[in-house]
Amino acid sequence: MAKPMSSLILLLISILFVTSSLSSPVTYDVVSLGAKADGKTDSTQAFLAAWTKSCGSTEAATIYVPQGRFLLGKVEFKGECKNNDITVRIDGTLVSPSDYNVIGNADNWIVFEHVDGVSINGGTLDGQGTGLWTCKKTGKSCPSGATTLEFSNSNNIVINGLTSLNSQMFHIVINGCNNVKAQGVKVSASGNSPNTDGIHVQSSSGVAILNSRIGTGDDCVSIGPGTTNLWIENVACGPGHGISVGSLGKEQEEAGVQNVTVKTVTFTGTENGVRIKSWGRPSSGFARNILFQHAIMNNVQNPIVIDQNYCPDEENCPGQASGVKISDVTFQDIHGTSATEVGVKFDCSSENPCSGITLDDVKLTYQNKAAEASCSHADGSASGFVQPNSCLV
Ligand SMILES: *[C@@H]1O[C@H](CO)[C@@H](O)[C@H](O)[C@H]1NC(C)=O
Repeated sequence: MAKPMSSLILLLISILFVTSSLSSPVTYDVVSLGAKADGKTDSTQAFLAAWTKSCGSTEAATIYVPQGRFLLGKVEFKGECKNNDITVRIDGTLVSPSDYNVIGNADNWIVFEHVDGVSINGGTLDGQGTGLWTCKKTGKSCPSGATTLEFSNSNNIVINGLTSLNSQMFHIVINGCNNVKAQGVKVSASGNSPNTDGIHVQSSSGVAILNSRIGTGDDCVSIGPGTTNLWIENVACGPGHGISVGSLGKEQEEAGVQNVTVKTVTFTGTENGVRIKSWGRPSSGFARNILFQHAIMNNVQNPIVIDQNYCPDEENCPGQASGVKISDVTFQDIHGTSATEVGVKFDCSSENPCSGITLDDVKLTYQNKAAEASCSHADGSASGFVQPNSCLV
């Protein structure tokens, strides 16, 4: 009796095994497609081969990058794909070419375009940007630099537990996308690295940036024209230039920014905390329904700032007023220390004054005394405890 019973169990187990392997997604290991984990051999073709197979699969597919360092040139992962469930699981590090000229004139290093349902899980991207930053600082003619990772015109994207180091330019760009979740992202670059924004979002809707830590030389998060329904929560920023809506209003015809929530963020030693910034020149742009809530400022130069007179190098804008209309912006539960006297600055457009600005439960100190507030063309109200005293009218 014992023998037939155990054969039956064995049979059942094999049936289970076969069916489960049939339904689990196909996996393409880049090493089995020729990638080398030595940090020196160009593995671009192996990654592209893994993409071609995954994108062409009619079932869910996984690209697997094991531990080690993989040298990659510029790579474009393009859709449309035959499935909408591709996972890129990375245990190792992707390294850009050590000579910054190789990708320095490309817009981006790693780009996903026209894809739907792509998730990146884990991994480190090393942009090796320090050489280019040095070049830029010495005023020599240098390439402008590549964004490390860009998702362009894509939907239903997850970026989970990814680390981006020392990008040449922006670290991560979300452009023209719908429904993107970036969580547990770590960005790290020197506080004086030029134009190395952590995460830049533009022309996108339904983007969430959660539980992330961003230290870099420019904005931790920058929010460009055409961004709607953006949610940022539980982010630590510093060093860097803070979380910024803008720059807006560079173009005459420009999409607005609407419905942005920035919640539970800590700024440490940053140039700005929460900011809205527009060029001082005509534009159809706008920013409305913006909530900055539960922020802690640790020694931040400009903790709360609206600047509508941005005019770098005083070119093409002197004497002009910003066309960008800023309205319905709430600053709620914002506490901490300012590194300058003026902790709250609203420098709005003379032609399109800010309206519906709300300060609620704000306490900012400078050298253990109340910080100051400065207002220009700013209309709104204050409630709860507000220090510095509101200058809104
Ligand atoms: C605002 O954006 C959030 C996501 O960040 C979304 O859940 C909410 O529905 C949006 N509100 C409106 C009025 O569109």
